[in-house]
Amino acid sequence: AAVPAETRERIEELKSERDAVILAHYYVEPEVQAVADYVGDSFYLAKLAKTLPQQTIVLCGVEFMGESAKLLNRDKTVLLPEPAADCPMAHMVSRATIDGARAGYGDDLAVVCYVNSTMEIKSWSDVCVTSSNAVKIVRELPQHHVLFIPDRNLGRHVAQQVPEKHVILNDGCCPRHEAISLAELRELKAAHPEALALAHPECTEAILAEAEFIGSTADIIGFAEKSAASEFIIVTVDGVLYELERRCAGQGKRFYVTKTPPTCADMDGITLDKLVACLESGSGAVHISVDEDAARAAQRTLDRMLEYAA
Ligand code: 13P
Ligand code: SF4
Repeated sequence: AAVPAETRERIEELKSERDAVILAHYYVEPEVQAVADYVGDSFYLAKLAKTLPQQTIVLCGVEFMGESAKLLNRDKTVLLPEPAADCPMAHMVSRATIDGARAGYGDDLAVVCYVNSTMEIKSWSDVCVTSSNAVKIVRELPQHHVLFIPDRNLGRHVAQQVPEKHVILNDGCCPRHEAISLAELRELKAAHPEALALAHPECTEAILAEAEFIGSTADIIGFAEKSAASEFIIVTVDGVLYELERRCAGQGKRFYVTKTPPTCADMDGITLDKLVACLESGSGAVHISVDEDAARAAQRTLDRMLEYAA
């Protein structure tokens, strides 16, 4: 990604003025990933935010990522370069669904919340997960019944991997991953019979059934980097291609995406210009949007994830 030298220098200057560090998700545009201090999947970004010495964390990602960083670092300033970038799935569960499951199963139920969720939804839940640790955490929970919110696709994938648990699904999903069609995946497989399909667990059941590997953005990148295969069909948002190409440079590996490249409009809203403007003005600060009791409950939900995943 070609970032002009003056822009890089300006960013360095502003970072030291603000005592700021830049974190970016693998889905944001290449120029933003190129200037970030750390790039990763949602679990890595949440975990990392707690260990950084800087007073200001600039999170190049969608709202829930900034909210998680803020909940885990209440004394720090967390800035979002594009505060309007929100993950639609983060809102896709109602309080009534949770209350209904709690009434039905009592203490033998864990409400497991995908990190792609609002602060309020986290405050109603028992433990957070991301796509990189959901299977491990659900397996280790003491409760037998699990209400998995909001994503039905990741929830179903977890249920299949942990058959000893009773997993109740909720009807939420990522509209970008749901839009990737099985016909397009099959077309790519027919055109590149040697290629391995690497899919994110937010994809539909039909896609996951035909994928050779299922994992988080970081897991997909790590798999391709280490694999002996040389062709891969990438079934997730195409922002991951930047890191895939970077890590696999010189290996002669080829990556294919569907004809309609999967993009996330919200992640695309986080541009280099907005990042610079955010560092200049200090705007886009994440605030705790719930009352103090709920904020503590949401923080506990995230802390439990960090404990289980350790
Ligand atoms: P990862 O945790 O795999 O980075 O996924 C985040 C996300 O929003 C996927 O759509
Ligand atoms: Fe949300 Fe889907 Fe975008 Fe990920 S890709 S941030 S789940 S809308």
